Amino acid sequence: MKKSAKGIGLAIIGGGRVGLFRGEVAARHPAVEWIGVAELNPNRGGSVAATIGADFLTTSYTELLARPEVTCAIIATDEHLHVDPILAAVERGVPMLIEKPLATDLKESARVLAAIEGAKLDAVVGYTQRFRRRWLAAKEKCRTNALGDVTLVTSRAFMNRLVAIDNYKRTDNPATISPMVISGTHALDICMWCLEGKTAVECYARSVDKVLGPLYHGIDATAGMIMFSDGTVHHLSISWALPVTWPAAVYSLEVGIVGTTGVLTIDDTHRDIVLAVSKAQSEGYAPDESRLVDFMGSYPPGDMALGELRGPMAEETRSWLNRIALGVPTQHATAREAHNRLMLTKALDESAKRKAPVALPLEA
Ligand SMILES: NC(=O)c1ccc[n+]([C@@H]2O[C@H](COP(=O)([O-])OP(=O)(O)OC[C@H]3O[C@@H](n4cnc5c(N)ncnc54)[C@H](O)[C@@H]3O)[C@@H](O)[C@H]2O)c1
Repeated sequence: MKKSAKGIGLAIIGGGRVGLFRGEVAARHPAVEWIGVAELNPNRGGSVAATIGADFLTTSYTELLARPEVTCAIIATDEHLHVDPILAAVERGVPMLIEKPLATDLKESARVLAAIEGAKLDAVVGYTQRFRRRWLAAKEKCRTNALGDVTLVTSRAFMNRLVAIDNYKRTDNPATISPMVISGTHALDICMWCLEGKTAVECYARSVDKVLGPLYHGIDATAGMIMFSDGTVHHLSISWALPVTWPAAVYSLEVGIVGTTGVLTIDDTHRDIVLAVSKAQSEGYAPDESRLVDFMGSYPPGDMALGELRGPMAEETRSWLNRIALGVPTQHATAREAHNRLMLTKALDESAKRKAPVALPLEA
């Protein structure tokens, strides 16, 4: 059967690390006919536009979205700066790939979700790990009841403190930044994806802040539980305050899924490829001179090889472009799922703050 692809005019709003990764993948996609970039920092914008061979460059997302060529948009601004460009793209009526989280404030996230759903737009959110083979395998075993009824999910995410420091330094409101909201959301999305169809009714959590508290009014780690209406329990923890020398460049995760007739454990710690060098390599989220040992593959977007990004973010971007060009279904998280993940991470933070259980859903 012959499938004909719709030509794509892609607007990339935010030309940072992720905007560049996705732009490079898009530039190689056969359906992409035009790329425009809006990046606040003109130097950065210039280098990103040159690297991907963009057709249009501006510092204003309004100017970019006004271009007639635009048929879809990637919103890749900083975590706390998604709302305005999303609302502008909704106004323009184009489908979107939005970086996580939908917003960092629950009320704003609800506002954005209402706008997207009100306009009946196809907007998906970059929960990139859904495109790693091991998580797809886990999803498939849960979906097809290979484990019976899932009753317990446990997850442990470990990160060195570079991402935390970068996030706290960039914000003037550290209260909106937490390990759960910014990074725990990835592990949570994977686990909630495997628990699809179950309803979360209550959560409980506690946090510690001995490292990042004194430095940035930040949080080091949060451990908690989410309880479901059928008695299922999700037990989860994240620390993003491990020493800079912890060998995972960014994310190191272990998950266990227990059902009534089976169990599945997934090692996503990336201990399978260990690099040790005498001179630091400038790769990963925030390269640091003191890091000489690396769990390769622990940078969530993937790795560069032979001049191309390889791994989950490349797969995710290509898959989204196929979704737009061919109308094929994909496993991207919907805006509604992304709002649910923000609500759950906020509820866990709220429970840790109150030192008391929080009923779900948490209202904005
Ligand atoms: N899915 C993943 O694995 C993954 C990995 C890393 C980051 N992210 C997410 O991607 C998003 C971007 O992260 P990043 O690491 O690329 O950050 P970054 O700081 O490298 O890039 C953000 C860029 O957006 C630009 N920007 C901000 N406001 C703008 C505006 N109004 N108009 C135009 N440009 C604007 C900034 O100048 C900056 O260059 C965040 O939401 C982050 O959580 C996702």
